[in-house]
Formats: sequence, C-alpha cells, structure tokens
Amino acid sequence: MKKTFLCAVVTLLSLASTAKTPAEISIIPRPQSVEVLKGQFKIIGATVNCDQSFDTQSQKAASIFTNQLTIATGRTSTFACNPGIADAAASGKIKGIVFLKDNSLAAEEYSIEANSKTVTIKASEFHGVLYAIQTIKQLLPAEIYSKTSNENIDWVMPCVVIKDKPRFAYRGMHLDVSRHFFDVVEVKKFLDIMATFKMNKLHWHLSDDQGWRIEIKKYPLLTEIGSVRTGTCIGKDFKSDDGIPYGGFYTQEEAKEIIKYADNLGITVIPEIDLPGHMLAALAAYPQYGCTGGPYEVWHRWGISNQVLCPGKEITFGFLQDILGEIADLFPSEYIHIGGDECPKTEWENCPECQALIAKLGLKDTEKATAEQYLQNYVTNRMQKFLETKGKKIIGWDEILEGDLDEGATVMSWRGVKGGIEASKRGFDVIMTPNTYFYFDYYQTKDKDKAPLAIGGYLPLEKVYEYEPSDGIDPESFKHVTGCQANLWTEYITSNEHLEYMLLPRMFALTEIQWCNPADKNYDRFKADVANHEFKVLDILGYSYCKEILGDPSLNK
Ligand code: ACM
Ligand code: ZN
Repeated sequence: MKKTFLCAVVTLLSLASTAKTPAEISIIPRPQSVEVLKGQFKIIGATVNCDQSFDTQSQKAASIFTNQLTIATGRTSTFACNPGIADAAASGKIKGIVFLKDNSLAAEEYSIEANSKTVTIKASEFHGVLYAIQTIKQLLPAEIYSKTSNENIDWVMPCVVIKDKPRFAYRGMHLDVSRHFFDVVEVKKFLDIMATFKMNKLHWHLSDDQGWRIEIKKYPLLTEIGSVRTGTCIGKDFKSDDGIPYGGFYTQEEAKEIIKYADNLGITVIPEIDLPGHMLAALAAYPQYGCTGGPYEVWHRWGISNQVLCPGKEITFGFLQDILGEIADLFPSEYIHIGGDECPKTEWENCPECQALIAKLGLKDTEKATAEQYLQNYVTNRMQKFLETKGKKIIGWDEILEGDLDEGATVMSWRGVKGGIEASKRGFDVIMTPNTYFYFDYYQTKDKDKAPLAIGGYLPLEKVYEYEPSDGIDPESFKHVTGCQANLWTEYITSNEHLEYMLLPRMFALTEIQWCNPADKNYDRFKADVANHEFKVLDILGYSYCKEILGDPSLNK
C-alpha cells in the first residue's frame, strides 16, 4: 500500500515537472511560433493586470477573461487595470497575468510569455488581446470553457513563448438565413464559436428567393410578405410541398444587437443583399420591380429562379438604393455584399423595358459577354457607385467579373478557384470561397445514409484542410487575395443542431488555412488536436458536431 502510494507520488511529480512538447499543445489555429519551456504556471486564483493605455474594449475583454477564470476554476481571480504596469512588469514586481500594450506589434498580432510566476501578454490593440486570450484558453484544460466550477482539475498552463499573427486579414464564415432562419440566440452561438477560433468576418446572407430576413423601414412588406413562404418542398422532391408556413426576420434593433455582440468578439458582420437575381421574396412583396409585374410568390423550392429584378425600370434603382441605403446605415462594415450570382437573363431578353435600356446604353453582345450580361454589369456598377457615396465598398460573387467590372470591387470566388485566379490577375481583391473546398452544405462522410440530409457532394475534413489559397495564382496576383471563407447554405439545414453539425469540425480546418502559414499545417497533428481537445471543448460549450473522424457520421443530439 505504502509502495503504491510512493509510486503514485513519484509519477505525479514527474508528470508535473515534465514540460509539454510543442506537439502536445493543442491550439487551433496553430500559432506561428510555439516554444515550450520547462515548468508550469498555476492559473487558479491568478490576478489579472491590464495596461490602462489599452482601449476600453480590450480592457473589457481582459476583465471577461478574468471572470471566466473565476467561474471555471471555482477560485476568485481579481482584475486590475492600472497605469505604469509596463514598468512594474519589467522590474519583475508583477506576478500573475499581465496584459501589456506593445505598439510595435501589428493589428491582430500578439505574444505570450509564460514562466512559473507570470504570464505576459503583449498586443497593440483589441484583436491581438482577444486572440491571446483564445490561445491561453486552449493551453488550459478544456473545462476553462465551462460555465460551472471545476475544482478537481489541475489548473495549470505550460510555460511557453508564443509569437503569433494571422496569414490573412479576411477570415470569414458565411451563413444563409434565408432558406432557413436562425434566430438571434443561434446567430450569437455561431459567432461565439467563430471567435473562439480567431475568425473575424460573418458574411450574413439576408435575402434570397425563399425569404427576406431583414427589416427595411421604407418597405415594410419586404418582411410582412417577403419573410414568409406558405410551404416548403419536402427534402429534394421539388414537386412536393409541406404546406406549412415558414418565416422569420430580424428587426433592425436585433441586427444592431448582433452587430454589437460580434464587434465585442472582434467580428465584423458583412450583410448580403443578393441582387439582381435571387430576389423572388422581395418581388412577392413589391411586384412592380420585376420584368413581368408578377404575381410572384416567396419560393417553396430550392434552385435558381428565372424571376429577377427588372433594371429596365428606373424605379427599380430607387428601390435598391433605398434598401442598400438603410443597410449601409445599419451595418458599420466597410463592405456590403451585393450578391450577383446566378441571375438568369431569360426575362431580360424578353422584357421590352430591359431591351430598351440595353439599346439606350448601346450594349451589344461581344466575345466576352452578352448584352444582358453587360446590363448586369450596369446594375452592379450603379450599386457600387451608390454605396461609395455612403463610404462603402462592394463584394460580389464571381459572376460580377463577367463582362466589365469597376475598380474597387472585391470578388468572392465560389465556382471553384478560377474566378479568384482571374480576378486577382485583373487586379481585383479576392476572397477565396471555392465550392470545391469550402461549401459546408456538402456531405462530410462517404456513408451518406447515416448522415443528415445535405445538398450533395463530398467534402470531408481532410479535403477542406488540403486547400492552399495560392495554388494557381502567381505571387504578384496573390497579393490581392485578402482571405478565405467557407459558405453554409441552408436549404437542407432545418435545425440549430444540424447547422452546427455541418459547420463543425470543418470550420477548424478552415481556420488553419486562414491563419497558418502552409509550413505550419499538418493534418495528423490537426486531426489529433480536434479529436483529443476540440471535441471536448465543443461538448462543454454545447455544440453539435460531426464525429466522422471518430467513425460516427450521424447527427447525435
Ligand atoms: C452561390 O453559391 N450561389 C454563391
Ligand atoms: Zn425587365
């Protein structure tokens, strides 16, 4: 008995004094440089000190982190925000966790130096502070994410030196709330998990054929009529109809709440109003802006509708400018997404007003594009110019490249990578969202019968991880690639659990592409981190996720 006890003590002591190796550290996305030193920092009860020269948002983030420490460890950590901390820290007078402002670091950059007495975090601004906190949380036991106290945990973190900054400035995730609606609570949960993994843009797809989801004060029917469809096709049988009214929208107050919530997590919300196609929900409310005048109905099925906005009627531009004007006033984002994808031209070809405008503008078919395509360029350019008067820039899907495109637009490459390759060569900024790697509405398992319904395709975790955004792009053009994003279209996603399952863990692979240099990526290390650490974090935080890498593709709730 005595001998067993002695063995246990020796084992514990040797465990305690053994430094983790960099390979044993589970941080996703992997920091650019991790050095693991001997020893550990005991975080339970640690005091948190914050340099008073940080802005209030940074101070608040450090204070929230202190509260999380208190809650998860069950022992009070105190928070202090004082001037002169840098001097005190330099002379070794401060113990515990110290946030220091270091203006030599770039925006989003941070460093962490932890020895057994002090954890020193340096950043020049709020995002760097946030990312340092996320990294520290990943150095701690997964229970740090818990909302209840965990007293039987060894609350230590390894002594480390971490220097880190992201590869790309734009690290986005798209969410379609038109095909199925997700309420404010779920959108906040979506933002929470994005922030935990250092993402910084939510592309919010707010309008489409199947539902208009944002209040526009000047056009109340957009939400009164446009946000509700009277039925939905069942599964992939487009001839069927469940006959059940389905709807939902965000008031402008709710949108503001989400924008503010996201901002405190370091995330910018980029709204999308998809035009001139994917507008059937708007036309159901205001048929006068369509080529045929209707009647129109909010769509019950998925796909691409031929019924689109009529640019031949000048009043359509007033309608669009009123909508985009309210959107520009509501969203502080520098970028507004104006869609531009999948706009069939059959109605324009047959519409006397569209054809009259084509003639007036002198648009002609060329080798590059049809006259109707140039008409779409005209719509895009007018919206771009209008938004510029509001201090905004546009993003559009890669169809906006067809024909002509004005300088200053950003292109989202979704039909594979070719749009991104072409746009960057032509000097446009590019965000890579290729469906071949980043469409999270695809299946993530070969055994589709065991998985919840998806749109099709096959995009397992490993394939997402493989993607390299510079492939096929010359170094000069690659300077225009500002980042990457995955898209989550929700035709077949009817519940919060299903939404999270499609997102996770593939979003983790996305974050390593967004954040890490290619040399720091390693699928075996990443997969082990996901299986051993991140799944535990997701369990504690209460997210659904796909356990395909553990051999279970089902949606277990
Ligand atoms: C798209 O997937 N239609 C952009
Ligand atoms: Zn028309």
